Amino acid sequence: ERPKPLAGRKAIVTSGPTHEPIDPVRYIANRSSGRQGHAIAAALAKLGAEVTLVSGPVTIPDPAGVTTLHVERAEEMRDAVISHLPADIAVMVAAVADWRVATSADQKIKKKPGEGPAPLQLTENPDILKTVGHHEKRPKVVVGFAAETQDVEQNGRIKLEKKGADLIVANDVSTETGIMGGTRNSVKIISAAGIDVWPDLAKEEVAERLAALIAERLGGA
Ligand code: C5P
Repeated sequence: ERPKPLAGRKAIVTSGPTHEPIDPVRYIANRSSGRQGHAIAAALAKLGAEVTLVSGPVTIPDPAGVTTLHVERAEEMRDAVISHLPADIAVMVAAVADWRVATSADQKIKKKPGEGPAPLQLTENPDILKTVGHHEKRPKVVVGFAAETQDVEQNGRIKLEKKGADLIVANDVSTETGIMGGTRNSVKIISAAGIDVWPDLAKEEVAERLAALIAERLGGA
């Protein structure tokens, strides 16, 4: 058997949405099936990496060969990710809610006759990718995702810089692609070197190519 290019490497992957509680029965969330992030965790493990997957609430199974931690909120996801540094690789795929309710209610918020809906006071969530990308224990390869509809390369470059990432995987969400929740993905890889357009692929194939690219960047291929 050929030696695995990521043997001895540690990877942290986030996947899925986060759920930000309003009260015990209600939450705010982004749409995300977790399919792409879970596939990336599995692909890194197949290349020999020791992978920790930090997953928000999803309905798909934990990938094989990966340690999966289940969290609900962005702050929990951030804490889980940071507590697993140092690592060689970070791939932040989760669709983290940008906002959370400033103070979630301990009891269910009741409808009061004659009164309008309770106002929600929102506050900004931590940016996990940005935190990892600028961390003193920053992994050698940091990868982020971006849902872009236009000016992909320019937006990607801005995001690389702002987030401290080495690669940004831009999803083409401009067309009626069915990418969200679907099984296929159409991505562009943005790095300091420029932009690389990948064909429409199964999410598993995107994951395998990305894992191979990460291995190449680590010089382990
Ligand atoms: O800034 P934007 O949300 O477009 O960036 C998307 C990238 O940043 C994704 O890789 C996502 O996982 C990551 N992200 C994060 N924490 C946030 C927001 C986004 O890790 N609070």
